[in-house]
Amino acid sequence: MPAIVLIGAQWGDEGKGKATDLLGSRVDAVVKFNGGNNAGHTIVVDGEKYALHLLPSGILTPGCTPIIGNGVVIDLGVLFEEIDALEARGVDTSRLTVSANAHVITPYNRTLDKVTERFLGSSRIGTTGRGIGPTYADKMARIGIRVQDLFDEDVLRAKVTGALNLKNQTLIKIYNRKGFDVEAVVEELQGYAERLRPMVTDTSLLLDEMLTEGKTVVLEAGQATLLDVDHGTYPFVTSSNATAGGACTGSGIPPTRISSVIAVVKAYTTRVGEGPFPTELLHEKGDELRNAGAEFGTTTGRPRRTGWFDAPIARYAARINGVTDFVLTKLDVLTGQDEIPVCVAYEVDGVRHDEVPMTQAEFARAVPIYETFPGWTEDISKATTLEDLPRNARDYVDALQKMINAPISVIGVGPGRTESIVVRDLLH
Ligand code: GDP
Ligand code: IMO
Ligand code: MG
Repeated sequence: MPAIVLIGAQWGDEGKGKATDLLGSRVDAVVKFNGGNNAGHTIVVDGEKYALHLLPSGILTPGCTPIIGNGVVIDLGVLFEEIDALEARGVDTSRLTVSANAHVITPYNRTLDKVTERFLGSSRIGTTGRGIGPTYADKMARIGIRVQDLFDEDVLRAKVTGALNLKNQTLIKIYNRKGFDVEAVVEELQGYAERLRPMVTDTSLLLDEMLTEGKTVVLEAGQATLLDVDHGTYPFVTSSNATAGGACTGSGIPPTRISSVIAVVKAYTTRVGEGPFPTELLHEKGDELRNAGAEFGTTTGRPRRTGWFDAPIARYAARINGVTDFVLTKLDVLTGQDEIPVCVAYEVDGVRHDEVPMTQAEFARAVPIYETFPGWTEDISKATTLEDLPRNARDYVDALQKMINAPISVIGVGPGRTESIVVRDLLH
């Protein structure tokens, strides 16, 4: 009964989509358990590029059941656009299943995300502006709209009325904006109900049945460990639990069902949005890494901030998530660097910290302590075994493995499905 959790170890965009896709046809279901269309996963299959936001990466694997779990927040307009775009390219989306308990991103929450960011000015989070934070806030405040509410017009109207009583006051009186009309919101959301209904299921029950039958299920995170609302660089985080614990609450699978935790980690570091980033490279070196790795957001197109590998962060991810395997991605991007620095610890106010400091204020002041490794110039994109890697690339991987407290089981050497070195089968 293997339920495998797959998470990001850094600040997102590590290549989770590709890693899930790599597991391929041996996986019976892929569950998205947190986040929404703030995520962007690029998957390259036979030279064709697919950008997924709301749909689990398993959608591209014939026979696999893609499941949107209860922990996800769904923008229904985006969901159907994404389905239509994939269908137009010949991808079968008919197996998609959606939890009745997932929350729905409403038009007022999209607006509130944008206006609160503007209001915060220089203290802004740099959100994706998709309404994610306000929708999770409503969920916790118990004024959220759930998928199941769409199927009962009276319930939906009562809930939208309750939420807008508060939200319209905020929009009009604080932000000097127009309020939302209850009927227009109800109409918009109800407009999706008929098409959505056949996809909606008790996904927790479905997963329990699948696991009991011995099927293989992957629980795929959006975002990543350092963007987790509890364990990340709060407040510069997303509003959900992107760590392994979130896989259980966001899907309804109990912890005793989880058999392994795969963490995807880039051979360097990137971050989108505001917040601390100790190894960040500014100026030419940062631009060079951004261009080499095509580090521009899949969702918002924003240039990603770039920096060297941060070992304490990866160790932290190993600890918080109970990582059993790392997938190290984008090693090929480092080809051509004379030297590759790796952050092995930090200095904060003259004191060495081997682990991520306890407080956010300390982390924001952390200065990386680097150990530098020699680079390589050989093209590694065709490597399929460790022996195919140049000595210096192999030494770099070995050094990282020693620092991060879990084996590196797969190494990515290109964006394509087949551009990977599999050291150990992830479905062990
Ligand atoms: P996700 O959000 O974690 O799924 O990652 P994104 O898709 O946002 O960003 C990762 C990017 O790196 C995508 O464009 C992938 O196609 C690409 N990618 C993944 N693995 C590799 C790799 O090993 N090498 C290279 N060059 N690109 C990769
Ligand atoms: P994937 O799944 C990278 C960042 C935003 C912002 C913060 C909060 O592709 O790895 P939000 O809109 O979630 O309230 O924004 O989180 N962020 C991501 N950064 N990859 C992502 O997803 C992200 N999803 C959110 O840039 O800093
Ligand atoms: Mg991404």
